[in-house]
Amino acid sequence: MTHQDIRKKFIDYLISHGHVELPAASLVPDNDPTVLFTVAGMQQFKQLYEHPDQAPSKRVVTIQPCIRTIDIDEVGDDTHSTVFEMMGWFSFGYTGSEDTLHGEDPYFKNTAIKMGWEFLTKELGVDPNRIRATYFGGDAKRPADVESKEILESLEGLSLIEATGENFWGPVGEEGPCGPNAEFYIDDTEVLNNVFNQYIRDTEGNYTQAEYRGVDMGTGFERLVAAIQGVPNIYETDLVKPFLQCVRAKSYNYNERHGRIIVDHVKAALYLLADGVKPGNKGRDYVLRRLIRRSVRAAQIVGFQEFEALLNMLADEYGTTRDAIAKNRDGAIALFLSERDKFLKTLQDGTSQLKKLIGNERGGEITGEQAFKLFDTYGFPIELTQEMAEELGWTVDADGFTDELNKHRELSKQGSEKIFKGGLADHDPQTIAHHTAHHLLLAALREVLGDHVVQRGSNVTSERLRIDVAHPEKITDDQIKTAEDIVNQKISEDLPVISEIMDRDEAFKLGALAEFGAKYPDKACVYSIIDQDGEVFSREFCGGPHVMFTGELGHFEIIKEEASGAGIRRIRARVVPRT
Ligand code: SER
Repeated sequence: MTHQDIRKKFIDYLISHGHVELPAASLVPDNDPTVLFTVAGMQQFKQLYEHPDQAPSKRVVTIQPCIRTIDIDEVGDDTHSTVFEMMGWFSFGYTGSEDTLHGEDPYFKNTAIKMGWEFLTKELGVDPNRIRATYFGGDAKRPADVESKEILESLEGLSLIEATGENFWGPVGEEGPCGPNAEFYIDDTEVLNNVFNQYIRDTEGNYTQAEYRGVDMGTGFERLVAAIQGVPNIYETDLVKPFLQCVRAKSYNYNERHGRIIVDHVKAALYLLADGVKPGNKGRDYVLRRLIRRSVRAAQIVGFQEFEALLNMLADEYGTTRDAIAKNRDGAIALFLSERDKFLKTLQDGTSQLKKLIGNERGGEITGEQAFKLFDTYGFPIELTQEMAEELGWTVDADGFTDELNKHRELSKQGSEKIFKGGLADHDPQTIAHHTAHHLLLAALREVLGDHVVQRGSNVTSERLRIDVAHPEKITDDQIKTAEDIVNQKISEDLPVISEIMDRDEAFKLGALAEFGAKYPDKACVYSIIDQDGEVFSREFCGGPHVMFTGELGHFEIIKEEASGAGIRRIRARVVPRT
C-alpha cells in the first residue's frame, strides 16, 4: 500500500462515517498565545470543545502538519521527526446521547475506539496480533478510564490491553480541554491515539468536568505508513526514502544519522518558511534558524551540498498536500539558501575577513597585527592566511605575527595540560553532552580564574563530569557561579561545535589545549566551539564525540568543588536534559 493509498483510505473512511474534511491550519497558531507552534491536530479546534455550536460540523477529519521541537535531539532515531503529519478525527459537543459509528451526531469513546480498531484491522488490514492497546489507569488526581477499558475488551481479536498512568493528554498550552486517552500500538510503535476530552484544566492546574465532551484522535502519518509497509523506520517508507536517497547519493562521507537529520530538518524548515516564519533570533524564528544551521552542520559532516535539489524534491512531494508549500515554494527555498549562506559565512568568517583585508588590490603585505587578528578572532591559522594571500599576490609579515602571538599567549605552558585521562565512559547521548560541557567548563574556568588553569585529570560519564584543574586556592562560590553562568550562556547561544583535522603544530599555535604528556600525530583532531562573533571560545585536541550544537545540552550545574591534592581542585558538574 503506498502512502497516497493510506491517506486516501483515511479520508474516505471518515467521510463515510459522517465526518467533514477541513483544511489543515498554519504551523503558526493564530488563536493561542500560550504556544509557539501547532503541535497537534486539535489545536485549531481548541475552542470548539467548549463551544460546539460554533463547529462547522460535529464530526471533522483533517491531516495536520505538526511541529514538535521538544523531540529535536531524538531526530535521527527510527520514529521521531520535527515536522510530521497528524491524521485526525474530531467530535465536538457530546452530552451523553447515543454513541454510534454512523450518522452526523457527536460521539465519544465507543465510536472513537471502534473506528480506530476497524480502520487499522479492516481498512488497512493490520493483523490483530500485531496490535496492543493502552488506556488510562488513573492517578492521584484523576480516576481510571473504565469505559475505555470495557470497550477495548469488547474488541474481537484484541488480546493485549494495558492500563498506564501516562495515558492522559493535554491541554495544549496552559489551559483548555484535556482527558484520558486510549492508544493503539503496532509492533510496539504508537500509531493511533484517541483523546477523550472530558475535563477543562485552568491555568492554576484545576480540573473540572467539561459540560461538553469530545474526541481528539491523532495518528502520526509517517509512523503509520512505516508500520503498514512493514519497514523498520519512517526513513524506509516510500514517502521519506527518496529524500534520504538523494542525500546519500550526493554525500561523499555519508552516515545514516546525519543523513536523517538533514532530511528531517530541511523538511521542517521548508514547512515553517512556507508558513511565513523567517529565520531570526527569537522565538519561532530562532527555532527555524536553528533547524537550518543544524542541517548545514550535518551536511558538512557527510559532505552534502545539494540543498536546492533536496528542497525541490521536498516541495514537489509536500506541495501536493500543503497549499502553502505549493504557493510559496520559490520564496521559501530562496530564504533557506540565503540563511544557509549566512551561516556558512559565519563559519568561514576568517576567510571573508582576509578577503576584505586584501580587497581588489594586487600585491601588498598583511601586517602581523592583521594576521594575528585573523587568527585570534576567527581561528584562522597563519599558514592558511599565507596560502590565500599568496594566491592573490600578497605576502604576510610572519615574524610580526609571531611577535603578536607571543605577546598574547604563553605557549610553553600549554604542553603541560592533561585532558581526558579517564576518557569517555561510553557513547550515551548524556555522556556526550557531558563531554561537550567539560570543554565549555574548562574554557569558562580559564576565563574566570586565568590561563594558569589547566587540566590535571578528568572523567566523564552519563551521570556527571569530573575535572581536576591546577589552581592554588579554593574556588569561591562567586567564581563557581560565574563559571556556571558562562557555560549556561554558551549553551543558550547554541554555538556550533566544530571538529577539524589540523596540522599538530598549527593547532598548538592556535592555542589548542592538549592532554598532558600525550603524543599527537602530525595531523590531529581538534574540537572548537565558536561563539556568536566568530571567536573561538574553546579549542582542544580531542577525539570526540561531541554534540553538534551547545544548545543540545540542557541546563548546566556545578555540583561540588573540593581539593584533590596540592594545588589541584576537583569539580563535579552535570547537565540536566530538557524534558
Ligand atoms: N492530540 C493527541 C496527540 O497529539 C491526539 O490527536 O497525540
